[in-house]
Amino acid sequence: MTIPESVPLLLTVEDYARRAKELLPSGMWGTLYGDDGAPDFRAETGNVEAFRAIRFRPRVLVDVQHRNLATEALGAPISLPVMIAPSGHQQRVHRDGETATARAAAASGTIMVLSTASSFSIEEVALAASGTLWFQLYWMRDRRVTQWLVRRAEDSGYKAIVLTVDMPGIRSRERDVRHEWNLADESKLGRTLEPDRLLRNFSGLEQAIPGAEAPTQAAFNEAWDDSVTWKDLDWLRSFTTLPIVLKGVQTAEDAELAVQYGAEGLIVSNHGGFALDDATPTIEVLPEVAEVVNGRLEVFLDGGVRTGSDVLKALALGARAVLLGRAPHWALAVNGEQGLRDLLEILRIELNVAMAFAGTADVNRVNAAIIRRG
Ligand SMILES: Cc1cc2nc3c(=O)[nH]c(=O)nc-3n(C[C@H](O)[C@H](O)[C@H](O)COP(=O)(O)O)c2cc1C
Repeated sequence: MTIPESVPLLLTVEDYARRAKELLPSGMWGTLYGDDGAPDFRAETGNVEAFRAIRFRPRVLVDVQHRNLATEALGAPISLPVMIAPSGHQQRVHRDGETATARAAAASGTIMVLSTASSFSIEEVALAASGTLWFQLYWMRDRRVTQWLVRRAEDSGYKAIVLTVDMPGIRSRERDVRHEWNLADESKLGRTLEPDRLLRNFSGLEQAIPGAEAPTQAAFNEAWDDSVTWKDLDWLRSFTTLPIVLKGVQTAEDAELAVQYGAEGLIVSNHGGFALDDATPTIEVLPEVAEVVNGRLEVFLDGGVRTGSDVLKALALGARAVLLGRAPHWALAVNGEQGLRDLLEILRIELNVAMAFAGTADVNRVNAAIIRRG
C-alpha cells in the first residue's frame, strides 16, 4: 500500500503536535502549546529535554514474554499508567471538547481529570462516558463557590479532587500579549469554542448561590484564593469524603507536608511550564519526592511526557502513573475522540516496546535500577 503524500503519518505524539500546529490559529499555538519561537514544542522549563537526557540501563535475558501495563490509581484500575491531566476549555480545539476526552479516556481504560475551567460542565462530562473521572479544583476566594464545585463533582460520581497548588491568583500575560491571544476576546475564540461555553462550570452560579458572582474569563485567575495554606485542607475535608490529590508539588518538603496533612496523592507538576519560569523539570524533581513519600501516598507526574519511554522513566523514578496536558489537545485538534484514542494507543505500544527492551515486564515493579544515574 502506498500512502498518499497529502495524508500525514501520525505515528508519534510529536506527529500530532506538528499536525495540530498546522491546524490551529498561530496565536493559540504560541500561547498555549509552543515555546516562543522554538520549533520543537519544548516547555520553557525544559520538561521535555530533561526526559531526553535520562538514559536507560537495560537488563537482558529477562523473561519479558508476558508484559503487564495495567495498574491502579487511588484504587481505580487503569489499563496503562497514562492519564489525562486537567486542562481548560478543550472545546477550543474540537467541538466535542471534554466530552470527547472523557469518551476516549474511558475507551482506553484510563482516568480523565476535568478542569474547573472546562468548556463542558462537571455534569455534562459525567454523562458523556462511564470511565473514572477526577475533578481538578481551583480554590475560589468565595468559599461557597469552591464548596459548590466540589459537591457537584461528588454528586456526579467523580472519584477524587485534584487541588491545583502551583497557581496563585496571578498570571503573566506576556504570552497572551505577544501572540495577541486572549480568550476573553470573543473574536479570538477559534473555530470551535462557543462563547457560552467559556467557564461553563460557573453558569447558573448566581441562581445557585445568592450574591455570588460568576468569574469572568478575563479575571478568572483573580477569583482564585491565594491565601490558602496547608491548614485550609481541613476545611476541604470537612465537606467531602473524596480523596485529595495535590497538583503542583515540586519539593521534598512539600511532599512531606502533603503526607502530614493527609493527602491521598500528589502530582509532581510545574503546570507544564505555565507557572514559575525556570522551575525544575518535573522528572528531575520526582526522585526526591518519591523518596520522602516512600509509599505513604500515591505519586503521579506530569510535564513533558511525549513517548512511551518517558512513561517508563517516570515509573522507574517513582511515579505510579503520568498525566498528559498538551498531547490530548493536539489529538483532539487533529481527529477528536478518535485522535485521542489513537494517541493513547501509540503510548501504550511505545511503553510496551520500551519495557521489553529494558527487561522489565510489569509496570508495578519497575525500579530505578533501569535508569543510569549521574
Ligand atoms: C491548554 C492547557 C490548559 C491547562 N489548564 C489547566 C487547568 O485548567 N488546571 C490545571 O491544573 N492545569 C492546567 N494545565 C496544566 C496541565 O494540567 C499539566 O500540568 C501540563 O500541561 C503538563 O505538561 P505537558 O503539557 O507537557 O503534558 C493546562 C495545560 C495546558 C496545555
